[in-house]
Amino acid sequence: LDNGLAKTPPMGFNNWNSTKCSSTFNESMIKSIADLFVSRGLKDAGYQYVNIDDCWALPQRNAQGNLVPDPARFPNGIKSLADYVHSKGLKFGIYTSAGTKTCNTAGFPGGLGHEQQDANLFASWGVDYLKYDNCNNQGVDAQQRYKAMRDALLNTGRPITYSICEWGRTGPPRVWQWGKDVGNLWRTTGDISDNWNSMIGKAQANRVLAEYAGPGHWNDPDMLEVGNGGMTATEYRTHLSLWAMMSAPLLIGTDLRKASAETFGILTNHDVIAIDQDKLGRQATVVSSSGGLVIYGKTLANGDRAVALSNETTAAATISTTAAALGLGGSSSFTLKDLWSNASRTTTGAISASVPAHGTVLYRVSRAGVTDRLEAESATSSSGS
Ligand code: DGJ
Repeated sequence: LDNGLAKTPPMGFNNWNSTKCSSTFNESMIKSIADLFVSRGLKDAGYQYVNIDDCWALPQRNAQGNLVPDPARFPNGIKSLADYVHSKGLKFGIYTSAGTKTCNTAGFPGGLGHEQQDANLFASWGVDYLKYDNCNNQGVDAQQRYKAMRDALLNTGRPITYSICEWGRTGPPRVWQWGKDVGNLWRTTGDISDNWNSMIGKAQANRVLAEYAGPGHWNDPDMLEVGNGGMTATEYRTHLSLWAMMSAPLLIGTDLRKASAETFGILTNHDVIAIDQDKLGRQATVVSSSGGLVIYGKTLANGDRAVALSNETTAAATISTTAAALGLGGSSSFTLKDLWSNASRTTTGAISASVPAHGTVLYRVSRAGVTDRLEAESATSSSGS
């Protein structure tokens, strides 16, 4: 959506993966997350949005027809929470559904037919991001429902990043075929869960949709499970590596109050985040895929390439490609930086690594000598800005 927002994939937090609708989802949790964004380096790493999901409201609208925050979870209301998040230099996001009710069986009210009233309320609270779900949609055409909220949000005059939570189940046209002019991101899959099969299934479904993504309009294979305990650190590094390669939104889905140093380390890897946030905004494509050994290549703004050598099998394997296969010519020497180990080495073109089961080796590939100059130029031109 050309609303000036999400020029790179949104980064932030959403409570759903860690809390669902349990009572841990409340004001004190969300404030702590905002605090931790600042104190643990997540804000500095680029994470910006602190978003709340389903179950924040009461089951009934008030006499004016407005949504009402559940006072048990949010005793000071949503505006005060948004103010708190803003006071930390962060942005605040909320959730509702493009239906008569949200997805939770308790039946919280949805936005269908109330688009402008709800958008106005969100804007008055200082909301910066809306995730708009697809449950209880009464069979009304998806494009019609999602365009109605797009227009309502634009009418408020407040910049609000717009996340379409239709999973591409209806159509054709599927959501990635119509989403570009409607939202800033759209889901391409059903809900992720905290296990390898779920996570890699989302990557497999999303990686074939590269042509639809770009600045302002992203494929969303769902939020991160990093840190939730159902995968190994190797698998979580694969998760973040593939999301970065696919220019996916990076919405942390773990309760950071309980996160380990290892989890913070994975989530704040600046070199990996830079692949996700690269200004060119070109989602990786699959260079090759055979027997569960998958090579992803991504062209970056300064002419570098990112390459992921990803092993979906249960045994270690050597995975190999070349700089030429990534479209990199014009040099007889390339620098490979391993973005998880930080080791750099030089190659004449061969790119190869032994990759553990369920692991991913992620390299940034530069023409030796050439990229250094480009980076020096962009550092000079951006200094002082
Ligand atoms: C379905 C969405 O896909 C999830 O991410 C979450 O928002 C739930 N609905 C909430 O009910």
